[in-house]
Amino acid sequence: MSRRTKTERYEDILSLPNVTDLHHYREGDFAAVRGRWKDFFGNDNPVTLELACGKGDYCLGLGARYPDRNFLGLDIKGDRIWKGAMQALDDGLTNVRFMRTRIDHIINYFAAGEVSEIWITFPDPYLKKSKTRKRLTHPVFLQRYRRIMQPDGLIHLKTDNDRLYEFTINVIDLLKLPVKQRIADIYRLDSIPKNLDIQTYYEKQHLAEGRSIKYVAFYLNDVVLQAVQDEVNELI
Ligand SMILES: C[S@@+](CC[C@H](N)C(=O)[O-])C[C@H]1O[C@@H](n2cnc3c(N)ncnc32)[C@H](O)[C@@H]1O
Repeated sequence: MSRRTKTERYEDILSLPNVTDLHHYREGDFAAVRGRWKDFFGNDNPVTLELACGKGDYCLGLGARYPDRNFLGLDIKGDRIWKGAMQALDDGLTNVRFMRTRIDHIINYFAAGEVSEIWITFPDPYLKKSKTRKRLTHPVFLQRYRRIMQPDGLIHLKTDNDRLYEFTINVIDLLKLPVKQRIADIYRLDSIPKNLDIQTYYEKQHLAEGRSIKYVAFYLNDVVLQAVQDEVNELI
């Protein structure tokens, strides 16, 4: 992979065949992607998203393991996406793509039911109480995911952050979402559960600092935020 400056990488992603840049979107751009991911991937295999993907380690890892599924990494940072996209091209992973955008706008980019599964990998925890609505597991985001996912779609969260982990567990409890698996410290288990062995760039740094890595997977059924709005506001 050639050495490129950060600015060059930002420019490069505009021409990479496996990247869609919707950061500076215009009216009409949504229609070019919404409901059309099967055209981008060239098949109608199920689509899994990696949110806050950074360099897209989960897209790359899962993409290599599951050639009959499609993986799309979303992040706002173009230079990070560049690395994942270049790696996918080098590895010949035609089932891995990236989209540069703010995840906040996610409902614009997918038709109802177009997404089957979501991984959220080491998202920024937004620890200030005033920023809780920016957390990618806040019910505001879960409502958005629900609109684009198949019924009972599976959400995975991997994080090093205790507060974000506890917040997410509390949200899951409040919304009565079915939990598939919940692990407070993955690497203390005798054997690492399937696919949790894929390590992201940030995860490796957290592990080097001796931090524990937490994981929860849950099914997203209908999210009725209004019913629990007051309780959610109390969460920190
Ligand atoms: C701590 S990094 C984790 C990157 C990668 N998943 C990893 O584990 O190496 C968090 C990433 O989330 C992205 N991010 C945070 N909030 C976002 C949002 N609302 N929309 C798009 N990207 C976001 C940041 O740009 C950053 O790359």
